[in-house]
Amino acid sequence: MRDLLDHDYEPECNRSGNTPFAEVFQARIARRGFLQGSLGAAVGGLFASTGVAHALQAGAGPELNFTPVPVDESDSFIVPEGYEAKVIYRWGDPITGAMPQFSPDNTGAEQGEQAGMHHDGMHFFPIEGEDPWQGSSTDGLLVVNHEYVEPRFLHAGAVAGQAMTAWSVPDHAGPRDPDHVLKELNAHGVSIARIREGADGEWRIVPDPHNRRITALTEMEIAGPVRGSDLVKTKFSPDGTRTRGTFANCAHGVTPWNTYMAAEENWSGAFVNNDDEMPREHARFGVRRGMSRPSWHLAADGADAYVRFDASTRADSAEGDYRNEPNTYGWMVEIDPFDPDSTPVKRTTLGRCAHEGVVFAPVADGEKVVCYTGDDARNEYIYKFVSAGTYRSGETRGEILDEGVLYAAKFNEDGTGEWLALVYGENGLDESNGFPSQADVLVNTRPAADLVGATPMDRPEWGTVDPQTRAVYFTLTNNSQRSADETDAANPRGPNPFGHIIRWHEDGAQDALTFAWDIFVIAGPHEDSADMHGEALNDDNIFSSPDGLWMDANRRLWIQTDISESVMYRGNHTVFGNNAMLAANPETGEIKRFLTGPVGQELTGVVTTPDHRTIFVNVQHPGATTSPEDFAAGNYASHWPDGGQSVPRSATVMIRRTDRGVIGA
Ligand code: FEO
Ligand code: CA
Ligand code: CA
Ligand code: CA
Repeated sequence: MRDLLDHDYEPECNRSGNTPFAEVFQARIARRGFLQGSLGAAVGGLFASTGVAHALQAGAGPELNFTPVPVDESDSFIVPEGYEAKVIYRWGDPITGAMPQFSPDNTGAEQGEQAGMHHDGMHFFPIEGEDPWQGSSTDGLLVVNHEYVEPRFLHAGAVAGQAMTAWSVPDHAGPRDPDHVLKELNAHGVSIARIREGADGEWRIVPDPHNRRITALTEMEIAGPVRGSDLVKTKFSPDGTRTRGTFANCAHGVTPWNTYMAAEENWSGAFVNNDDEMPREHARFGVRRGMSRPSWHLAADGADAYVRFDASTRADSAEGDYRNEPNTYGWMVEIDPFDPDSTPVKRTTLGRCAHEGVVFAPVADGEKVVCYTGDDARNEYIYKFVSAGTYRSGETRGEILDEGVLYAAKFNEDGTGEWLALVYGENGLDESNGFPSQADVLVNTRPAADLVGATPMDRPEWGTVDPQTRAVYFTLTNNSQRSADETDAANPRGPNPFGHIIRWHEDGAQDALTFAWDIFVIAGPHEDSADMHGEALNDDNIFSSPDGLWMDANRRLWIQTDISESVMYRGNHTVFGNNAMLAANPETGEIKRFLTGPVGQELTGVVTTPDHRTIFVNVQHPGATTSPEDFAAGNYASHWPDGGQSVPRSATVMIRRTDRGVIGA
C-alpha cells in the first residue's frame, strides 16, 4: 500500500531502455584509469574535458559572507548569526471571502478561503504589476503552490486518536466523507495573497481584491495544439477546451510578462483506470488500477467533480465519461495574479509529464521565448521550449507559448549535448511509430522523448538560469533505481541516493540546438560527494537530495534539500539531519549551509524582494516523520510553527538581516 499512497513514491514508468552512453562512459573511465567509486576524479575529468566552466567565467561571483549553520535535528528554523526569521503565511491562514480563522476542524468550504496545505514553489510579485523582478520590496502579491495534503493533519480534528501514517486516507476504500474530499481538493492548488511590510517592520497578509484561491476544482482553459483534440474531450467539456482544477503543483515559473506558471507534478496517482487495457497516455504516466491514492472518486455524494477521477470507460463515447480526464493533467498552468477574474490556462506546448516547474531564460525584444522544464520521475527527461514568435516587451502575453517547439535533452558523454525536437513528422514521430498528430505527441510527451533518444535523468527537479551568463542549472534529486551499470556521464552514480546538480550553456543564442554541459556538484556525505573541483563536501556544506534551486540577480545560487521522510534521520542519511538551504557561488563552486528547517519537513520555494534585503522560503510538511503510534497519541514529531501541542503547518518564512543588508552579502 505504501507505493500507492506515499507522496514520495515516484512511479517508475520509463521502460524505453534509453541508455545511450552508459557503455561509452564506462569505457572512458576505464581508459583514463579512473577507479570505480573515485567520484572526484571522474568529475574532474569531465570538467577538464568540457570547457564549460571556462565559458561561464563572468567574474569572481557573489561573496557568501555569512557563517554557515551546522547540521541540526531540532524542531526549529535556524538562520545564520545576524539574521532573523519570522513565519508570515501558514496553511489555513485566511486570505479571502469570509476570512475563516484556522482550526483543525475547518470545513472544506472554509479551506477554500484559506492558504492551502504544503507550500511549494512561490514568487513575490511587486505590487506595481509591471515586472516580476522590479518594483516594491515591501508590498506585493505572494503566489504560492500548495503541492499536496497530509490527510491526518488536514483532518486532525476528525481523525484524532487514530494510528495514521503520513499517507493514510480516512475511509480510503470508500465511501468517503464528501466534506473531507472537498477539503482535500481545496487545500491543493495555488494561493494569491497580498503581503505588506508595515511601518513596524512586520509582514502581514492584507485583505485585498487580488487575494484568490485556485484549487483542484477551479475551471481552466486548455490552450495550444491539444485544445479541442479527441484526447481531451470529456463529459464536462465535450469540445475538449476546458477542464476543472490544478493540483500536485510542485514548483513554478515566472514569465517575462509577469504571470505565474504552476506545474502539475504527481497528479497521476489521483486517477484510477480499471479498463482491461490502459492507454499509454495513462500507463506511461502512472495512472493506477484498483485504487487511487486519495479515492476522491469514492465521495459518498457521487458529485460529478469527484467522480471524474475514475477514468474507466463507462459511456459509449469520450463525451459521456471521464476516460480522458487524466489527459487534462500533467501540464504547466498559467495564472495572471493581477487579474482575479482571469481563467487559468493549461499551456500544452510545454508538454505533459510530472512537471517539476519551468524556468524562463531572460529575453530581450526580438528574441524567441525560451524556457526549460524537468519531468521529476526516475529516468525521465529535461525539456526545452522555444517559441515560434518573438518577444515584444509590453505586448507579448501567454499566447506566445501556444506555438513553438518542445525539445528533449540528450547529454553526450563528451560534455556536449543536443536538443531533440518533439514535432509531429520529425525524428520518427509519425503514424508509423504511433504518433498521428502534434496533439498526440504532446499528450504522450514521455513516449515521444523515449522514441527520439533523450537521456534518462536522475529525477530532474528545479532549474534556474544564470542572469549574467545564461547558463542553465538543474537539480537531479536522486535515483534509487539507477544501477551501477546504468550510469552515464550526466548521471554518474548508480544508485544515486544523494543527487547532483548539472548545468549547461547553449552553443550561441538561447534557442540553439546544441550545448556544452558539466556537473556543478555531486551531493552527499563527506566520503561520497564532490564539488566542481572534485573536492569532497565538508561539515559546512554536506547535503543530500537537492530539489529547490534559484539563482538571484546577484548570482547567489540557492539550493534547497528534500531528503524524503522515508529515509530522513536513517542509515546513510543520518548525517544530514533536517532538510536545509545552502548558498553557492557559481564561479568558485563554494557552497555554505544557510539555514536548517524543523523536523520532518523539506525546504522548497525561494525568492527575494527586488532589493535582495528580504528572502522568503517555504517549509513543507513539518512533522511528516510522525509515526502512526505517535500520531494516535498526539505526539507529533513537529509542532512547528505554532508550538505547544499544535498540529504542524507548512508555512512561508521571511528572513532578513538584522541590519537590513543584502542577503548573503
Ligand atoms: Fe514535488 Fe519533485 O518535488
Ligand atoms: Ca520539489
Ligand atoms: Ca517532497
Ligand atoms: Ca523532491
